[in-house]
Amino acid sequence: MQEAIILVGGKGTRLRPLTNHTPKPLLGVAGSSFIRHQIAKLMHAGVEHVVFATSYLAGLFEAEFKDFSQDLEISYAVEDVPLGTGGAIRNAGRLLRGGAPDAPVLVLNGDILSGVDLRALLAHHEDRAADVTLHLTRVTDPRAFGLVPTDEAGRVLSFLEKPKTAEECVTDQINAGCYVFRRSVLDAIPADREVSVEQETFPQLVAAGRRVFGHTTADYWRDLGTPLAFVRGSADLVTGRATSPLVGRPAEALIHPTAEVDPTARVTGGSTIGPHAVIGAHAVVDHSIIGGNVSVGAGARIHGSVVDHDSTIGGESTLREVVVGCHTHIGAQNELPAQLRLSCGLRIPARAVRITATAAACPTVH
Ligand code: GTP
Repeated sequence: MQEAIILVGGKGTRLRPLTNHTPKPLLGVAGSSFIRHQIAKLMHAGVEHVVFATSYLAGLFEAEFKDFSQDLEISYAVEDVPLGTGGAIRNAGRLLRGGAPDAPVLVLNGDILSGVDLRALLAHHEDRAADVTLHLTRVTDPRAFGLVPTDEAGRVLSFLEKPKTAEECVTDQINAGCYVFRRSVLDAIPADREVSVEQETFPQLVAAGRRVFGHTTADYWRDLGTPLAFVRGSADLVTGRATSPLVGRPAEALIHPTAEVDPTARVTGGSTIGPHAVIGAHAVVDHSIIGGNVSVGAGARIHGSVVDHDSTIGGESTLREVVVGCHTHIGAQNELPAQLRLSCGLRIPARAVRITATAAACPTVH
């Protein structure tokens, strides 16, 4: 029986306020919660049992899957206090069914959108009789990542901190957040404290001469941990740049059948429009995620943004790379620039925030 562990216990601080009430893996991308895309991919690869390593808002995972009737067994390993990525893997290992010490166990970060062929990754691991096999991906600018150089046979040489100089960029390969562990190696991770698999477990295995291999591919790969990456990943699934068994044919937008989009509005760039959302006349929604029950007023322009459920965007307002929490009201004719995050429940009056000057009369008595 092929088994997998998905790490879903992180707080997702970089995606706040979206993650204030919803764990990152349960946020909607391209019409489904992200974790459902991962589950579909795992089932496609022949996985029959998945253990969710949960901590933050753990109960919401059980609620999401309580009616899950497909051919996959799901278990929940709940951490009362977060154990870090390594501790979480070890803790989830208690619930694996296959007891053989050499059994390969797939481990996935719960926030990576990846086109890697999981069967090929497993085969790579078996062929090399590896202790651990890491999926590695290549990046154009390695300075933002820890690097993972390998020898010609693909054996991992070291795990390097983020490079500070060009000379330190000895490779463009980085850890892609998806691994195969030999079961006995997983069981040897300490169980009584917080452990980082990236900073502790993997470097120690390499230093001890264990068989740690990289499987480097050019497949689609994106870490959805930041707001911009999150909207881009969703848009890529809709437009077909990234694939998921849950998304149909490539399209310009994914509009829920209960949403109302005015015929003069334009919804483009892989945008997703949630259930019962209303998009007004001449509004433009590009490269964005619009949640359920959101109302977008006439002439509003939304680009590269996430608007969480039950919020209102006033007519002729402009949002560029903005994150709007749930139940938020943005009045008409506001201009919200990049990197703004609006807390849940916030109310912004009409014409309150602008970048360009306005001739609107000053309502204050001087
Ligand atoms: P940020 O707070 O925005 O950095 O996000 P995060 O909390 O998700 O952290 P990060 O992106 O580094 O985590 C990578 C993966 O490991 C995610 O899928 C997290 O859910 C998961 N993860 C991180 N720490 C823990 C932990 O202590 N326990 C468990 N079970 N999972 C964790």
